[in-house]
Amino acid sequence: MSELAAMLAALRERFSAAAGAAKGERDLDEVRVAYLGRNGEVTTIRRGIGSLPVDERPSAGKQINDAVDAMEALLAQRRGALESSEVEAELAQRIDVTFPAIPASVGSIHPVRRVIEDACAYFERHGFAVVLGPEVEPDFYNFDALNIPSEHPAREGFDSFWIDDTLLLRPHTSPMQIRTMQLHRPPIAIVAPGKCYRRDAVDARHLFQFHQIEGLLVAEGIHFGHLKGMLTGLCRTLFGVHQRVRFRPSFFPFTEPSAEVDTTCPKCGGTGVCGMCGGSGWIELGGAGMVHPNVLRDVGYDPEVVTGWAFGFGAERIALSRYEVDDVRRFIDSDPDFLEQLA
Ligand code: DAH
Repeated sequence: MSELAAMLAALRERFSAAAGAAKGERDLDEVRVAYLGRNGEVTTIRRGIGSLPVDERPSAGKQINDAVDAMEALLAQRRGALESSEVEAELAQRIDVTFPAIPASVGSIHPVRRVIEDACAYFERHGFAVVLGPEVEPDFYNFDALNIPSEHPAREGFDSFWIDDTLLLRPHTSPMQIRTMQLHRPPIAIVAPGKCYRRDAVDARHLFQFHQIEGLLVAEGIHFGHLKGMLTGLCRTLFGVHQRVRFRPSFFPFTEPSAEVDTTCPKCGGTGVCGMCGGSGWIELGGAGMVHPNVLRDVGYDPEVVTGWAFGFGAERIALSRYEVDDVRRFIDSDPDFLEQLA
């Protein structure tokens, strides 16, 4: 064996020992620089070619190139092996596929939504359709068509968020009565749940964004007894079979006669010994009444032929007493622990 061949063989042996001992990418790179780098051992050997007789030079160059090819191949192989063993080590450390998974939280239905869903389901069982409408409404639907012309003092009761001279965020769901009656001929039986907005200061009982559930029934021969029956059934569905319902005379421009509707406080059972109903034994749900003839006439119905009842209840109010919550702000705090506990 020539002197050069022996030298290359020894070099390759040392190289492969060093590459084999490398524990990571970085070690391997150091080995590469030491042997194959610009100032590495191979370069030193290559420089020796110049001192060989001219006819031996090509063969020497070839031997060196062959050695370099072999060393580079070994490097690549080691690099691949190191990479996969690093990945494996990482996998072995991090993933135990037999470990029981932490159950993912799926959340719960919000109490206000539950009230709306239960109320709608009750009315749907009685043949009512659920309809949804815009939250931004012209004053025509919010007021004029509901028998509240522009100078009417009842407008002041709705402290609204106005968008311009005629558009506002609806302060109640009653506009849906008009939208429905404009589109359909009687008989009409709908519930319209949805968001409403009023410029109210936020406290334990008020939010500036809240939900109402509106109901409307118009047909021939409809009277106040139908209203009492349906709302009593609603309260028993929402709160329990022993609920009683009370109608207090009231005023709304779009109904005549009008009433405020109360139900027995579900916490004290109407005995008035708890704080939730303020000791009265009653919880106020909202307004109701027989649809005003002017409202029917304005949508092209004949009030001599058809009559109707309507109501508008506050969903948050119902949820407060149904779930015995003392502060309506709890409903918008987005605290999953609190909300799940009511579910
Ligand atoms: N829209 C009324 C309010 O928000 C509530 C109401 C009263 C709705 C009587 C009705 C009704 O449908 O007949 O104060």
